[in-house]
Amino acid sequence: MQPPVCILFLLISCFHLSSSTRTFDAIFNFGDSLSDTGNFLIANANAFPAPNIGNTPYGMTFFGHPTGRCSDGRLIIDFFAEAFGLPLLPPFLSRNQSFARGVNFAVTGATALDVSFFEQRGLGGMLGTNLSLNVQLGWFEQLIPSLCNTTEDCRKLFSKSLFLVGEIGGNDYLVPLTFHRLTEEQVTAYVPTVVEAINNATERLIELGAVNLVVPGNPPSGCFSGILTMLNGTSKRDFEHDTGCLKKANDLLKYHNRLLREEVVKLRRKYPHVRISYADFYKPIIRFARSPGKFGFSYPSLKACCGGGGPYNFNIQALCGLPGSSACANPSAAMNWDGWHATEASYRQIAASWLHGPYAHPPIMSLMKD
Ligand SMILES: *[C@@H]1O[C@H](CO)[C@@H](O)[C@H](O)[C@H]1NC(C)=O
Ligand SMILES: *[C@@H]1O[C@H](CO)[C@@H](O)[C@H](O)[C@H]1NC(C)=O
Ligand SMILES: *[C@@H]1O[C@H](CO)[C@@H](O)[C@H](O)[C@H]1NC(C)=O
Ligand SMILES: *[C@@H]1O[C@H](CO)[C@@H](O)[C@H](O)[C@H]1NC(C)=O
Ligand SMILES: *[C@@H]1O[C@H](CO)[C@@H](O)[C@H](O)[C@H]1NC(C)=O
Repeated sequence: MQPPVCILFLLISCFHLSSSTRTFDAIFNFGDSLSDTGNFLIANANAFPAPNIGNTPYGMTFFGHPTGRCSDGRLIIDFFAEAFGLPLLPPFLSRNQSFARGVNFAVTGATALDVSFFEQRGLGGMLGTNLSLNVQLGWFEQLIPSLCNTTEDCRKLFSKSLFLVGEIGGNDYLVPLTFHRLTEEQVTAYVPTVVEAINNATERLIELGAVNLVVPGNPPSGCFSGILTMLNGTSKRDFEHDTGCLKKANDLLKYHNRLLREEVVKLRRKYPHVRISYADFYKPIIRFARSPGKFGFSYPSLKACCGGGGPYNFNIQALCGLPGSSACANPSAAMNWDGWHATEASYRQIAASWLHGPYAHPPIMSLMKD
């Protein structure tokens, strides 16, 4: 038994040494409100969701003012930038900034599928933006010549960059489910197409030279007060017994995550030279909901910190940032920020679990190589 244990120990030591001395040179991020650092506000996109995110108390915990982030402070992507010693990712639409250390293409309200998919089905009405994943990829392709001019330069830059494809896809399901009152069965039928769009985007990035990629799954949206309120359950059976989250929403996202993870496995086989981590957004939030106290959350885990009242402190007429709403005294003790999104305190813990494990497969720190 002795020799294998020693070898394992040596490998672990080497890994720790190398991961503490190296870092990524740049981050490129695609997604929606879970990682938007300002694009939605700059784009002044469609009227819904109302531009409440541009108002206080958004940003109250860290920035002291609204930045376009859908939270009280930093997002997972901000904690990544800090961990790699990089500047916080500038939004792509803030064209004045340098994108040499990376850029954020994520837009609040963005869908994985193009808007035409929803318009063809009469579901275009309540989408927050038309700046879908394909549009964001187009922005990246446009930007490449300003980042690197020769194949060799691009290869060098991208081999030391981290690419995040998502989270994305949540809006593709939740908008039809909540605003168009489609059934869970109807929306479940879209899952393979949404997953294919994310897979296509990941593959396109690999073909453009990305070698370190993270593909995050979706969070359990049935634990968020906006969904709990809008898809109100009628009987005890509609809720998970251990969390109080809404089963039908969570089952849908679990299915999405299962298919997405299968596609990641296939991509790894197809492109053996790339490193792709599947990041689990689902399990950490389920654990917060199940035992909030264990994670430092003393505020009720299914209630929004910032909102306009009601059993879950969520009122679509008085969203966080709009008149009639207010924030809880200590957002750091709350898991859920505004009914749709998590607090900085939640994102900090999820970011750590993706960087170092156990919720990214493999942990993102282990993607770095010579
Ligand atoms: C970019 O710079 C111009 C000119 O200095 C300024 O008017 C504009 O507001 C800046 N845009 C952003 C997004 O910072
Ligand atoms: C999005 O909508 C805006 C406003 O209607 C329009 O000007 C723009 O061209 C659209 N963009 C895309 C990528 O469809
Ligand atoms: C690539 O070439 C263009 C045109 O010559 C130049 O403007 C740009 O700065 C170059 N980009 C890099 C990263 O060197
Ligand atoms: C994914 O790419 C394939 C091959 O180009 C294409 O046929 C398919 O329509 C794409 N799927 C989506 C959802 O974009
Ligand atoms: C669910 O919420 C809607 C909108 O608030 C309300 O009209 C409906 O009566 C509620 N249904 C149940 C079963 O509580």
